[in-house]
Amino acid sequence: MCGIVGYVGHRDVVGLLLDGLEKLEYRGYDSAGIVTVHDGALQTARAEGKLSRLKDRLKKGGLEGAYGLGHTRWATHGAPVERNAHPIVDARRQVALIHNGIIENFLSVKESLQADGWTFDSDTDTEVIANLISSHLEDSLLEAVLKAVAELEGMYAFAVVSTRSSEQEIIVARQGPPLLLGLGDGEQFLASDAAALLAYTRQVVFLENGDIARLTTDGYAVYDHRGESVERSEHRLNWDPVQIEKGGYRHFMLKEIHEQPQALQDTLAGRVDFELGKVDFDTFSLTHEDLRRIERIHLLACGTSWHAALVGKFLIEELVRVPVEVDYGSEYRYRDPIVDERVLAIGISQSGETADTLAAMETAAEKGGRLVTICNVAGSQATRLSEGVIYTQAGPEIGVASTKAFTTQLVACYLLALYLRRIRGIGVDSEQLEALAHLPQAVSQALELESQLEDIAKRYHRADDFLYLGRGINYPIALEGALKLKEISYIHAEGYPAGEMKHGPIALIDEDLPTVAIATGDQVAEKVRSNMQQVKARDGKVIALVDHSGESYRDVADEIIEVPRVSRWLQPIVNVIPLQLLAYHIGVWRGCDVDQPRNLAKSVTVE
Ligand code: AGP
Repeated sequence: MCGIVGYVGHRDVVGLLLDGLEKLEYRGYDSAGIVTVHDGALQTARAEGKLSRLKDRLKKGGLEGAYGLGHTRWATHGAPVERNAHPIVDARRQVALIHNGIIENFLSVKESLQADGWTFDSDTDTEVIANLISSHLEDSLLEAVLKAVAELEGMYAFAVVSTRSSEQEIIVARQGPPLLLGLGDGEQFLASDAAALLAYTRQVVFLENGDIARLTTDGYAVYDHRGESVERSEHRLNWDPVQIEKGGYRHFMLKEIHEQPQALQDTLAGRVDFELGKVDFDTFSLTHEDLRRIERIHLLACGTSWHAALVGKFLIEELVRVPVEVDYGSEYRYRDPIVDERVLAIGISQSGETADTLAAMETAAEKGGRLVTICNVAGSQATRLSEGVIYTQAGPEIGVASTKAFTTQLVACYLLALYLRRIRGIGVDSEQLEALAHLPQAVSQALELESQLEDIAKRYHRADDFLYLGRGINYPIALEGALKLKEISYIHAEGYPAGEMKHGPIALIDEDLPTVAIATGDQVAEKVRSNMQQVKARDGKVIALVDHSGESYRDVADEIIEVPRVSRWLQPIVNVIPLQLLAYHIGVWRGCDVDQPRNLAKSVTVE
């Protein structure tokens, strides 16, 4: 996934592009570049590595021009070296292009262009688009783009400028990855997401798949792939630019961990009526009759969102008594799942742009399933594919490691379970609702454990491996704790059902292997306690997470984390807080780039 930004107007274009790229760097950061058009010529600057390298390059000689494009890259085709950095210029140096996505037929198009004498300097699929547009430039840039996209297959969000344009114009095209326009007076913007625009405009247009748009200082116009004008609604964003900044925290991830009480409040706001004892959603176009006809539910997601889906299965099956299947997006799309109109497919995604999850959602819809999404980003592809949307209202999540998006996904699953109970005539009792009322406070109390977790992190940050154990609804939390540690500290960590210890993992236990064991909930706490004994008996270190007095664990645990006790349905939300903090502080002790871990991107918009 990459970040793209563009501007045409009266401001300092280079400064604006760099500012936008800073806000988008979490989308990919192995190289960056910008291009401006000045006096009929392209001026480009590109650099390998982080954005700071590009800024250093520009200090040696800035670019001139009143409009241009910027790009921060997460490499898919071609090593992350300057030669492959965007903007990519065509062989005749008359167009410059930035691109997010993958052109699946780039090899055949490249061969055809080479047969016509076109040369290539990079290993990227993107260069094919630049040369293809340039080869059609006998008419306008818009016409050239329309002809080029007719020959392309794959996913793209790209923007292009040309020396041949008679006025300052940028043409953009979207098929898959996100692309939105920012609207101003005498100025227009484009970006992969709103974070890059918020400081300049809140008026935006979310482009749809197949849209081509032309931006000039006079305004914008949107066309379909035939070149026919189409209307797109304009939205006013209510995100606060300050939210995008770190707010005094050392990292976005830590800020977002601490934002969880507020994020949970925002997820609940307007949906829970404690007096009337009911849950309602305002963005659900499925009728109550539709929902009563549902006989099975498929939860589709990737990564942390897949862990949320696993918790969702426990909640919905227990509270609604409807069978729930959980599947990775990347698996579901290829296993020919059994779907019909009696299946409710739910795509769970923070970004709403994860290619595997989107493909799974499309698979379910194509087979006749009803489709909704639990998502954090308005206007994202997942929300546009779905008949109903449950927004997690977590606000922008910048840290690559998902935290507040995860806990708000869990609350959204719980709300959905209560909503379905009401619709299907099962009813919602006061205990189930009251559990929600105490949740943000309980999470705030869990956050107060941070100094203990920082101490534990200091003692264990040199470990090479970690094991996380949980039972029942806490098994997905063990998986999530392991993923958090893995992705930001690069320590190998595995989550396991605690009952599986004796079937293999116990062979790993020795004095160098810390085991985090989640022992909350009366039903299984005793069984997890015996797992801790098994670890201790083999000289393993035990970090116990309990929701009652830890005194009784002194003989089986080296560290005891006492979390507030809430209802069993919501306990996973409280339990994950210390695991997020543990992973964060171990990452910091290890000197890792916590907000932008190596090899990762915030949203994986390619297969
Ligand atoms: C989680 O910390 C990771 N960043 C990753 O696993 C993420 O959850 C996954 O890529 C799914 O992203 P989505 O929720 O935006 O679809």
